[in-house]
Amino acid sequence: MKDFHREPRPGATLRNDHDRLERIYAELLESFRGGDWDDVRASWDHLDQGLRDHLLTEEQHVFPALRAAHPREVAELQHEHAELRRVLGELGVAVDLHMVRDDLAVALIERLRAHASREDSLAYRFADEAAASRAARSTV
Ligand SMILES: [Fe+2]
Ligand SMILES: [Fe+2]
Repeated sequence: MKDFHREPRPGATLRNDHDRLERIYAELLESFRGGDWDDVRASWDHLDQGLRDHLLTEEQHVFPALRAAHPREVAELQHEHAELRRVLGELGVAVDLHMVRDDLAVALIERLRAHASREDSLAYRFADEAAASRAARSTV
């Protein structure tokens, strides 16, 4: 997400990105059901790229400021990111081997939803409030 640091409401932008990721999850499960490996590969690449970008954007633009106020929350979110990347790696291998691992995909999606709702309740709210107070200071 280019120029993310200029976002007036970073939390809202990341929430929209969660919605976009939800559409990719649906696309991936549909591809698994269809059983066409070109489709599975395309959906997988779409998810892998979208999710890695999302995690990195949070780590670069949300976690640093949040860490000062809520260090434990950031440590736990960061730990969840590491777990998500680990599962992404496992599923990527399964896709390379043409193994139908829709169980792993469903487990990943459930984890992602739990992670998203955790971010929604603190990290994203914090990011929006911090951006709003920066904007208020810069207009004085
Ligand atoms: Fe996250
Ligand atoms: Fe997120």
